[in-house]
Amino acid sequence: MPTYSVTTPQRNYSAVVERGLLPRAGSYVPSKAGKLFIVTTADVWERHGLALASGLEGRAYEVLFFPGGEERKRLAEVEMLAEEMVRLGGDRSSLVIAFGGGIVNDLGGFLAAIFMRGIPVLQIPTTLLSQVDAGVGGKTGVNLVTGKNLVGSFHQPLAALIDPDVLTTLPEREYRAGLYEVIKCGIIRSADLFTILAERHADVLSRDPDVVEEIISESVRIKAEVVSADEREGGLRRILNFGHTFGHALEAETGYARFLHGEAVAFGMRAAVRLAEMRGTLTAREGAKIADTISLYGPIPPLDAISAKNLVARMAADKKTLQGRVHFVLPVRIGEVEVVSGIDEDDVLAAARATLA
Ligand code: GLY
Repeated sequence: MPTYSVTTPQRNYSAVVERGLLPRAGSYVPSKAGKLFIVTTADVWERHGLALASGLEGRAYEVLFFPGGEERKRLAEVEMLAEEMVRLGGDRSSLVIAFGGGIVNDLGGFLAAIFMRGIPVLQIPTTLLSQVDAGVGGKTGVNLVTGKNLVGSFHQPLAALIDPDVLTTLPEREYRAGLYEVIKCGIIRSADLFTILAERHADVLSRDPDVVEEIISESVRIKAEVVSADEREGGLRRILNFGHTFGHALEAETGYARFLHGEAVAFGMRAAVRLAEMRGTLTAREGAKIADTISLYGPIPPLDAISAKNLVARMAADKKTLQGRVHFVLPVRIGEVEVVSGIDEDDVLAAARATLA
């Protein structure tokens, strides 16, 4: 069972990747914990609730349903869930189990971070995207009208429990969207992972259990390593944002309605490749390998009627922009990226235009 240590000033914990782990999740709940609050969505609970509940026998728990959707990942929902927790007997000994995709991991983690000034959370991500990203690393938060994840906190979990078996019921589009985050991990830090995605795409797409476990494990290993080196994104952790500068702009420009997050990241990675090629810091050969591999897992929804100018304007408003400087994570070669700022806006515009064309 691959287990990766996440070592941060706030907490040291394990990110465990294991098929069939879900029914054993209860063994990661401390014996002294009070009432457990499982934050989840109706569809996840319907598919996987029994498996989780079977391992919680003898423990007092309540299931709190969150409607799901980026538009509901708001402070008002956190407040309602906190009120419900109090009504149901929650106190400072309680524990939140965030059981679902990235939105539930973010919102459930944030609820735990602020409930009675902070209680522990166990992260159990159930989509590929959340298993390789949101469920590990302690970023929690909610959206404001003015932008995504603009209120939040770093709240590291007691453990991140990743059961690849739950992906067998994941809708095809969501699975593919998650694969783009896996491709991202390969490009930023693991040429071997990238090779699996480039050469074994039929096994990846058919969800061969061994291959799925391997690509998740390698992605989680990378995430654990990066977060351990830089919990608060002062330096190295920025590389996890590869594809996100253009990607976030695309999501915002289309009202978070047209693209899944992973699909927007796929667009963003292609745009970053274009930009790196234009700057002469990535060879056309490496760039083509990346673009071809991204295409193997597509297509993403159509890119028509999107203004490159608007995308560039949106980047300036992103929370990753510091003191007006937009940072880009650009590939140097497969397995290595660099963080660059101060790029001429005309070059960014040209890369966006070329990727939209
Ligand atoms: N999702 C990027 C990070 O965890 O830093």
